Amino acid sequence: MRFELINNVKENEIIGRTIFDKNGRPLLKKGVKITSSYIQKLKDLGVLYIYLKDDRLNDIVVEDNELQSLKQDTMYCLSKVIRNIGAITQSHIKDCVNSVSEMIDYIMNMRDINKSLYEIKTHDNYTMLHSVDTGANTAFIGLALGFNKDMLNELVIGGTLHDIGKLKIPISIIDKKGPLTEDEYNEIKRHTIYGVEVLKGKHGIPKSALRTILEHHEKLDGTGYPYGMKDKEISINAKITSVCDVFDALTSDRSYRKKFNPTDAYELILSEAGRSFDERVVTAFKETFSIFPVGSCVRLSNGIEGYVIKQNQGFPDRPIIRILYDAESKQRLSNYYEIDLLDNTSIVITMIL
Ligand SMILES: [Fe+2]
Ligand SMILES: [Fe+2]
Repeated sequence: MRFELINNVKENEIIGRTIFDKNGRPLLKKGVKITSSYIQKLKDLGVLYIYLKDDRLNDIVVEDNELQSLKQDTMYCLSKVIRNIGAITQSHIKDCVNSVSEMIDYIMNMRDINKSLYEIKTHDNYTMLHSVDTGANTAFIGLALGFNKDMLNELVIGGTLHDIGKLKIPISIIDKKGPLTEDEYNEIKRHTIYGVEVLKGKHGIPKSALRTILEHHEKLDGTGYPYGMKDKEISINAKITSVCDVFDALTSDRSYRKKFNPTDAYELILSEAGRSFDERVVTAFKETFSIFPVGSCVRLSNGIEGYVIKQNQGFPDRPIIRILYDAESKQRLSNYYEIDLLDNTSIVITMIL
């Protein structure tokens, strides 16, 4: 399978990984041939990149079906909380907490190191996907920081529910096209406080999760909201959630903000270490997630171009690259070969193509 930015996708290519709509139903199924109207539709939905079938990369697995289905379960539980936001019951919370716990069990035992930050999102299902992806990604960072199961539970519950307060904000503001007025932006900022109001005192919601909800927009240097808290005042769980939240939000389609491509978003996170974000958290983020998704085409510092086929644990910028074309003639090689960047430390990836 090949990872391709939507702007580079051509007609007649084959979808490699099913794309879902807001209800979790397949929008374009794996195996479907792409037409120009499909490409336009995906662009309209804010899809940035998709996976395409590619015979030369048939052996690459980019899909983790088990994690996908655990995420779907969590999404389902979250949808019940959201639908009953005015009267959340004990069983809604219990279901949510249980499904988060199952997801963590799986993540803790995951051998596969293809921790993908690149989930395909359509604009319509943004809120739910954003919440669950952010929650799941906090688990990976927590693990890298040495969290145990109980700590991870509290972290991921907070990470998954971090934006729950947005449900108290009029949809006309959330979905507004174009820039927000100052009043509207101030209302958006209140989702941190509304979230705590909605869940405060509910049995099963850890206090630390309430802090995550309240503090996930605070920044180390005190320029965040709602309180302008500084480094030591902000909880570690909120700091982790903040990094995962910002990465996910930057790469998703939002009505009031211009989208970033994944490389720029990744760079932005790294550049904000020590200012917006905690340095230890950013280091863990960098060590955990690869900037180069499996299946993407990259150019190496020696001029050769190839496809990322496997990550090396702990070295996200040094994956294994499969070379399919001759660097000079651009002709397809009869026998492809691979370069492991962990063994060839003089070579670096210079760009995603
Ligand atoms: Fe938020
Ligand atoms: Fe968020």
